[in-house]
Amino acid sequence: VTAFLGGVLLMLGAAPVTFVALTRVTAPYGRHARDGFGPRVGARLGWVVMESPAVLVTGWAYALGEHRADLVPLVLLGVWLSHYLHRAFVYPWSLRPSGGMPVLVVGLGALFNVVNGWLNGRWLSSLGDYPDAWLWRPATGLGLATFAAGWLLNRSADRVLRSLRAPGETGYRVPRGGPYEWVSCPNYLGELVEWAGWALATASPAGVAFFLYTAANLVPRAASHHRWYRETFPDYPPGRKALVPLLW
Ligand SMILES: NC(=O)c1ccc[n+]([C@@H]2O[C@H](COP(=O)([O-])OP(=O)(O)OC[C@H]3O[C@@H](n4cnc5c(N)ncnc54)[C@H](OP(=O)(O)O)[C@@H]3O)[C@@H](O)[C@H]2O)c1
Repeated sequence: VTAFLGGVLLMLGAAPVTFVALTRVTAPYGRHARDGFGPRVGARLGWVVMESPAVLVTGWAYALGEHRADLVPLVLLGVWLSHYLHRAFVYPWSLRPSGGMPVLVVGLGALFNVVNGWLNGRWLSSLGDYPDAWLWRPATGLGLATFAAGWLLNRSADRVLRSLRAPGETGYRVPRGGPYEWVSCPNYLGELVEWAGWALATASPAGVAFFLYTAANLVPRAASHHRWYRETFPDYPPGRKALVPLLW
C-alpha cells in the first residue's frame, strides 16, 4: 500500500511539472522533432518500447493479485488491454512516420508506462474492492460508455491522420472531415475521454492520477499542434479549436 500511495503521489506531483515543462519545451517528436535531444530510434520501435510496459507490467502486477480471477477485475483488465494491446503492438506498424524518435522521449514514456501500468494493474487485482455488483453501478456504466466513446474517437481520428500520407510519404496536410471540423487534435481528445471514463469506471486513485497526467501531457501538445497548423497552413480553418469543440 505504501508503494502504491507513493506511486500515485509521484504521478500527481509530476503532472503539474510536466504541464509547465511542455508548455515551454514542446516534446521533440513528430512535427516538433528538432536537434539537441540526443540520439534517435525508428518511430515504430520507439512506440513499441514506450508502450509495451503498459501491457507487460500491468499484466504482471495484475497476475500477482489475489482477485485476479474475479469477474470485475477481469472485465476492467480487458478494457485496459483493448487500448494498450493496440497501442503497443498494432498502432506502431500502422504508422507512416516522418522521422525517428529521441531515445529520451522513448525512455521517459516507457518509465511513465512502467509506473502507471504497475499502479493500475495492482489496484485492479489487489487493492481495489470490486464485487460483481460493481458492474451494475450507474457510475460504472457511464464510465465504460465514456471509455468506449473516447476509444472510438481516438481510433477513428488516428485513422484519418494515417490516410493523409501515401506509403513512403512524410509531409503534412490539413486533416478534414468529422471531428477535424471541430478541433485540431481529436485523437488527443479521444484519449482524454477514454481515461476520464476509466477513472470513473474504476473509481481508483490510480485512474484519477493517470487521467490528470495524460491531460498534463496532451493539453500542451494540442496547443503546440494547433499553433503549428495555423502557422504552417495560411488557409487553416479559422473556426477550428485546438482540443475542446467550440471552446479551446
Ligand atoms: N496517454 C498519453 O499520455 C499519450 C501521449 C502521447 C500520445 N498518445 C496517443 O498516441 C497517439 C499518437 O500520438 P502522437 O503525439 O504521435 O499524435 P500525432 O502528432 O497526432 O501523430 C499521429 C500520427 O499521424 C501523423 N500525422 C499527424 N498529423 C498529420 C498531418 N496533418 N498530416 C500527415 N500526417 C500526420 C504523425 O506523423 P509524424 O509523427 O511524422 O508527425 C503520426 O504518425 C495518439 O492517439 C495519442 O492520443 C497518448
